[in-house]
Formats: sequence, structure tokens, C-alpha cells
Amino acid sequence: MVPPQTPLPRSLPSLSAFDSAAFAASVALPTLAQGIILRRPAMVAAAERFGLDAGAVRQMQRLRRRYGENPLLIRNPIRPQVLLLSPRDVRRVLAETPAPFSPASCEKRAALSHFEPHVSLVTQGEERRLGRALSDSTLESGCPVHSLRPAFHTAVEVEIGRLLHQARALGALAWPLFFGAWMRIVRRTVLGASAVADTELTDLLDRLRARANWAFAAPSDRRRRDAFHRRLEAYLRRAEPHSLAALAARFPEAALAHPSHQMAQWLFAFDPAGMTAFRALALLAAHPAALERGRAEAMRPGDLAFLRAAILETVRLYPTTPAILRQTSAATEWPNGELPAGAGLLIFTPFFQRDDERLADAHRFVPERWLGLEPDQAIPLVPFSAGPAACPARHLVPLVAAEAVAAILRRGPIELQGGRLDHRRALPGTLDHFTLVFDLPL
Ligand code: HEM
Repeated sequence: MVPPQTPLPRSLPSLSAFDSAAFAASVALPTLAQGIILRRPAMVAAAERFGLDAGAVRQMQRLRRRYGENPLLIRNPIRPQVLLLSPRDVRRVLAETPAPFSPASCEKRAALSHFEPHVSLVTQGEERRLGRALSDSTLESGCPVHSLRPAFHTAVEVEIGRLLHQARALGALAWPLFFGAWMRIVRRTVLGASAVADTELTDLLDRLRARANWAFAAPSDRRRRDAFHRRLEAYLRRAEPHSLAALAARFPEAALAHPSHQMAQWLFAFDPAGMTAFRALALLAAHPAALERGRAEAMRPGDLAFLRAAILETVRLYPTTPAILRQTSAATEWPNGELPAGAGLLIFTPFFQRDDERLADAHRFVPERWLGLEPDQAIPLVPFSAGPAACPARHLVPLVAAEAVAAILRRGPIELQGGRLDHRRALPGTLDHFTLVFDLPL
């Protein structure tokens, strides 16, 4: 007797060769070229000039119209790679993290191991659990207003006061000046007052990050990476009062959680938080009603709920993590087929966050949409992701960035130079933060 045959699993459908190439050219390439780990100014300028980010969203909408909303394989010579097109699948993949959908994808491991090989995002099992627990506890991930807020407020007041003084002397506020002040705030907040002027540490990290942009294609610079971690460990031992380093050092299992690797991620990720604060300032400057509301809030004591919502709306419009990546650790079933273990999954966040075929006011600045909403409860809007790997700084970033914006608004009027944004028109897909300049009329 012939045994009954079990049917072979049906593979997920693929994009055609032409559409896979179109995806590579108009979605993957412009995103990678701008620098996933460290932004490349010339590429960000090109993306704004040629509308590349808006073009990527249109390409994704075209694929959805053509193939429907179920997951699709992108033809490529490396490994099965899936594109997610529906909020239902985004929810599933983010909820079922880290197994079977692991955040530690090959390309992320290759990139982040240049400067933080033991960060939770690229580790597994107990190592991931401990690293993640250290970040959750130190960054107070579930808490809208961090317990160190008074210290953050003081750091921001000192640095923004100094920044505006310098900007007035120069006649305008531009990115390099803002970013210098922002990183002083970040070093003080993360490492303590003695780190405020440690620009060498930030330079060291930036050099490692520039290599990380090349992921597999660049060898690791172990000597520099070790030097960077030794410096971070010294700050951890110092555990200066009112710093995140002091909270991390107090974490019960700190010795096993690779704290300097988690801290490397915090320092790295405060860079996109600075971009977001500066873009939020530009959006507010271009939206008179929101500006007035933000300034009124900045003038009185309170928890900056509106300005925090403005930060969330800014990162919805201009996501700083455009690609959320996962890799399957086991075979998974989908309505349209099966996917083997070891496959990559991509959530291209600008598609969902600028999807004008599904989302009202997709290209408008509407901070109100975030009021009363948890940053990780708005799927398919996922600027800070969602589920067990959601960014543990999803409340901290809006708070510190809102403090910086409030401190600027409190000190007088600001005007965005060059008419770059107009609240009566749809907002552009890219906003090159490197070239934003503000006048500070008295
Ligand atoms: C605009 C600023 C930021 C944005 C948009 C952002 C967004 C994200 C996103 C999308 C992820 C990936 C989650 C996933 O794969 O599902 C992530 C992970 C992470 N972020 Fe952020 N982040 C920002 C800033 C920060 C800051 C300032 C810190 C620390 C102070 C931080 C700490 C982390 C950590 C530790 C992880 C890894 C989480 C894990 O392993 O589960 N982020 N972030």
C-alpha cells in the first residue's frame, strides 16, 4: 500500500522579477543610502530634493494594489525575504517577538556588532532577556514621565540657554549648533555631569557607527570598539547621581546584562531623537496654531502632554527607524502559504505612517492624534515599534525632546528660514534636518 502523501507546504507568493527590482530601486536603495545607523547628509539632501521617501511609499501602495495585503516574498539571491503589507500582519509579527520572529536578524547583527554586539536587539534567550530588562528598568519604559525628569529639565535649561545665546550671537540657529547642545544634554543625562564635554566619546561612537552603515561589508574595528566600551564602563563605575548610568549600575543583574552595550544603544539612539526634536521645532514653526499651543504649554508647569504628542507626530511623519526587521526562528503559517525558518521580514514604517489611501491627514502635522494614546498602541503607526521589542525609550524620547523644544519656545519667537514648510500644503516625504535654519527675532 502506498502511504498517503502529506502535501508539500505552499510557499508564500513572490513579487515578479520586475516588481522585486522596482522595490529594490525605489524602496530599499534610497532607505539604505541615507544611512541606517548614521545618516549621510548628502543622501538625505538628495532624498528631499528628489522626493525619494514619498516615492517609496507610492511604490509600496502600488504593490498592495497589484498583489493585495498578504505577505509577499521579494525575489533576491540571498534568502527568503518577506514584505508585510497589512496592519494585521504587523500586529502579529510584533506581538510574536522574539519567537518565532526574532529581532536579531542577520543584517542587524552585522551592523550593530560593529559597536554593541551584546545589545538586546541582536542577542537571544537569557542574554536578550537581561539586556532588555536593564533597559526597561533604567529607561522606565512603561512610564510616561521618567523619575529623573527634574534632572533632565535642569540639563536642558542649562544647555538650551547656552545654545540660544550662541545662536543669537551668530544670527541664526542651525543644526550643527543644536546638535552640539543636544549631545551635551544626552551625555549629561545618560552618563552624568562629568561627561558633558566628552566629545571624544561621541566621536568614537560616530566612527564605529559609520562602519556599521556597511554592516557585513566592513571589518570590525575591535581596538576602537574596546576603547569605547572601556570609557563607558568608567562612567558606569562612577555612577554619577541623577544619571541613567547610576540607575543602570543599580540594576540587580547589571554584571550579567552587558550594561555598556545597552548604554551604547542609548547614546546612539539619542541621535535620531535629536533629529526629531529639531524637525518638531520646524513643524511647529510652520503651524501657527500648534506653535501657540506648544508655547502656552511651555510657559506653565506641567507634563508637556501636547509637545510630547508633537514629538510623536514628528516621528510618525519622519520615521527615524524606517525598517523594522525580524527573522523567523521556526517555520510559520500565513493565510497565503508557509515561510521556512531563517526568513527575513520587513515592516517598512513610512508605508504605514504615510499611507494616504488608509490614514486620514497622512501628510499633515496633527499632534492631537497622539493625545491619550500610548506610543506603542497605535498599530500600524509604529514609530517606536510595538510588542515585546518596542523601544524602551518610547516615553523617554518624547519627554526629553519636548523639554528641549519647550526650553527654546519659552525663550522667544522662532521662524523657519526659506519657507521650507507650509501648513496649507501636504508635508514633504523627507525633511532634511541637516539644513534646517531658524531665525530668532527678539
Ligand atoms: C527618535 C528616537 C527613537 C526612535 C524612533 C526609536 C525607535 C526604536 C525602534 C523602532 C526600535 C526597534 C524595535 C523593534 O525592532 O521592534 C527601537 C529599539 C530600541 N531602542 Fe529606540 N528609538 C529611539 C530612541 C531611543 C533612545 C534615546 C533609547 C535609549 C535611551 C532607545 C533605546 C532602545 C533600545 C534599548 C532598543 C532595543 C529594544 C529591544 O532589544 O527589545 N531608543 N527603538
